[in-house]
Amino acid sequence: MDSNRNDLDALLKETRQFEASEKFKGNAIVRDRSIYDEASKNRLTFWESWAENLKWREKWHTILEWKPPYAKWFLGGKLNVSENCLDRHLEAGRSDKMALIWEGENGDSRSYTYRDLHAEVCKLANSLKSLGVKKGDRVVIYLPMIPEAAIAMLACARIGAPHSVVFGGFSPQSLVDRINDLKAVCLITADGGYRRGGVVPLKTNADKALDSCPTVKKVIVVARLGQPTEEFSADMEIGRDHWYHELIGEAEPHCTPEIMDAEDLLFVLYTSGTTGKPKGIVHTTGGYLTQVTATTKCVFDLQEDDVYWCTADVGWITGHSYIVYGPMSNGASVLMYEGAPDWPDKGRFWEICQKYKVSIFYTAPTAIRAFMKWGDDWVQKYDLSSLRLLGTVGEPINPEAWIWYHRVIGKERCPIVDTWWQTETGAIMITSLPAVTETRPGSAGEAFPGICTALLNDEGEAVSAGLLAITEPWPSMLRTIYGDDERYESTYWSKWEGIYFAGDGAKIDEDGFLSILGRVDDVLNTAGHRIGTMEVESALVDHPAVAEAAVVGKFDEVKGQAIAAFVTLKENWQADDGLVMELRDHVAKKIGAIARPDSIVLTADLPKTRSGKIMRRLLKDIAEGKALGDTTTLADPSVVQGLKEQYLSKES
Ligand code: WT7
Repeated sequence: MDSNRNDLDALLKETRQFEASEKFKGNAIVRDRSIYDEASKNRLTFWESWAENLKWREKWHTILEWKPPYAKWFLGGKLNVSENCLDRHLEAGRSDKMALIWEGENGDSRSYTYRDLHAEVCKLANSLKSLGVKKGDRVVIYLPMIPEAAIAMLACARIGAPHSVVFGGFSPQSLVDRINDLKAVCLITADGGYRRGGVVPLKTNADKALDSCPTVKKVIVVARLGQPTEEFSADMEIGRDHWYHELIGEAEPHCTPEIMDAEDLLFVLYTSGTTGKPKGIVHTTGGYLTQVTATTKCVFDLQEDDVYWCTADVGWITGHSYIVYGPMSNGASVLMYEGAPDWPDKGRFWEICQKYKVSIFYTAPTAIRAFMKWGDDWVQKYDLSSLRLLGTVGEPINPEAWIWYHRVIGKERCPIVDTWWQTETGAIMITSLPAVTETRPGSAGEAFPGICTALLNDEGEAVSAGLLAITEPWPSMLRTIYGDDERYESTYWSKWEGIYFAGDGAKIDEDGFLSILGRVDDVLNTAGHRIGTMEVESALVDHPAVAEAAVVGKFDEVKGQAIAAFVTLKENWQADDGLVMELRDHVAKKIGAIARPDSIVLTADLPKTRSGKIMRRLLKDIAEGKALGDTTTLADPSVVQGLKEQYLSKES
């Protein structure tokens, strides 16, 4: 343990020295902090100047109306997001510039110039209209990572139909919950998608879901697999289901964008919270587009000839803001990849970087740790000299992974931006700016210009290590939780008066650099995905054998956190390995494979306080093999001792 610590300290010292050297300074660091100065002088006019870079059909009369906790940005302004992401670039002479370059898992590829992408989006927008989808109608998108996913989002934006993308790995039940919460009228899906050589049966899942979704009248199906196979034939329901290619084959490549109010709904994206029910995070039009545009430009120091690759799935906020809206609003060339990083082999990402001369690469720490484990040889085979900037997002990056990323991928040449933000914030909030500030392993940096953060204790006093708070409204902030203002107020705004509670712990050093320490609520982060412990618990309790369940995150070298469940059974159920497997599968079936518990311990009792509250903190200690914390509030201390012994015997 200690010798590891020394190695790490030495590495950190070396990296800091390297950053301070002339070579590094000459490469990227200019340290012209005028952007911070400008924003701190007047953050409203700072954001206004970014909004002015966009195309508006009508100008706003008020920059911000703040009636805590409800914000409206650029009041009275009118614009269309797809016009900003497409038409604006045609007008600016970028018609022939690559907009979207796509690599399929099986090596096929497609690319779209801004002219092509504009035409495709218009055709789908017209098709949606021909099916009766109108401004304000909600459309759910359930697609693999294929160009049609981005096209569908932009087409919805074009006709003013708010979209909600559901990650392709989610189960039929998760799809039902989201569709019904939104009362969506249309679903855009595919016959299937490819993942690690296998097929994800999206249409089959969708059909299962649609039986319970009375509001959906129209389904558009992309033929990704093409030839129906016996197992995955897309059964098309006449009148309801339409092939994508048949629809757009008849559609006009021009579609007048719907003029939207700055505060009109752009999309709803569901994310896990501390209850069993995911929250529909509401994002609107003008402020969202302004902040994703500004952050993409500044954080990635975006240049005209960059090839930009963010490895997220469009089913998450990262895919919304940093594959589609941010980069395309900036007219960037965006790479999109369908498959897994280890398919057909563990060099796939680097092969793609070499093939398309990727210059900006944005990924998650969990992926970096996996690459690290797979070994440097997979990387060394490829020419990565086109890379100039690296990014990370989704969870704290441990210094070992940071240093590896810096050395092996970035060849000590590329700055690393560690970007903190959330589904709720819509866009990057804390980051370093490669052209301005220093980057440091283990620190996300400073608040983006125009963003006001603080570290507070429960009483709202400023501290150097505490709860991460955002003290002023920001343009891309969530506006509410869909259909649930009350939950919006209690989740984010009830801790302190008029201040946003992010749910993360953080610390700040003497130079003002922030380090995010992780969630302080019952939300886990497993392989960069956010899962509520309660969601997994509800899925477990849904199984007839389960009486009670408690779920905690336990440290995992690659995933950051693994999902550990403790379950008590109803009478007459036999505790055995078969049942454990069945319960793990049950959760995957209810929510999706990302929520499958890594371990389940069947136990006679769970540790509870005298008032009957499960003490998850102690379960976490047990799962991580740590000494038990304070047990004095337990109703029956013997429960936890027995559980610990049982856990240790299982693990060994
Ligand atoms: C949570 C938000 C933002 C897109 C991906 C996740 C954690 C995010 C960082 C970072 C440390 C991070 C936080 C946050 N997180 N970025 N750079 N360093 N932690 O979006 O699913 O809404 O999750 O991810 O805990 O609250 P999300």
